[in-house]
Amino acid sequence: MVTCYDYTFARLLAQSAVDGILVGDSAGMVIHGRANTLSMTVELMRIHTEAVAHGAPGKFIVADMPFLSFRKSVDAAMDAAAILMGAGAHALKVEGILGHEDVIARMAQSGIPVMGHLGMQPQSVHAYGGFHVRGKGDEPAREIIHQAKALEELGAFSIVLECIPADLAREITSALHIPTIGIGAGAECDGQILVLQDLLGMNTDFHPKFARTFFDGADQILSAIANYDSAVKAGTFPSSRESYS
Ligand code: KIV
Repeated sequence: MVTCYDYTFARLLAQSAVDGILVGDSAGMVIHGRANTLSMTVELMRIHTEAVAHGAPGKFIVADMPFLSFRKSVDAAMDAAAILMGAGAHALKVEGILGHEDVIARMAQSGIPVMGHLGMQPQSVHAYGGFHVRGKGDEPAREIIHQAKALEELGAFSIVLECIPADLAREITSALHIPTIGIGAGAECDGQILVLQDLLGMNTDFHPKFARTFFDGADQILSAIANYDSAVKAGTFPSSRESYS
């Protein structure tokens, strides 16, 4: 899986072999330039989800339930879920489990495929005191295993495991019947996800250990823009073939 937030990239992903697209609330950081994901709202997630659904109608699209949208009440969560499913999501991702087990169960029982998200939960960044690996040590690891099993029992169809030790991710993956999707969780999850802009090398200031760049996007894009700028300033663009007579 990869993340996507807009129509243009969704059209490209539609031509790729990736199995699924996550309209992640990482849009808050990647698209809106915020320090974390907390500013994302249901309305912003609706706009991004709709754009991706238009661009990649044949792909499996998961949208993130944004910060607090599933914590106020089951009714409020179901309203938010209805908006995101109506925007074209096929499934919704919900971070964590403690205190919103009822929401996860209601969503799953209502025909909404629910993807869980354990380990580093970016919506809890302030509670954690930063973006760090989670689940190190026996007790924290046992707690994540317990939560993963509980998510499966509540009806989740899959779980993202973010930034946990690879051994722990392997143990969770073998303990569950549903697939795990890893990011910073080693190679033995059932699948992997990366933020599209990270794998394309678009952000030269951000190099988390787990995010391999598969393209030098920043260099390539800057070089294309430099070529355009030089051509305009040299008077070689537009040419007569690029002009109307
Ligand atoms: O919002 C997001 O991009 C995510 C992925 C990191 C899994 O939740």
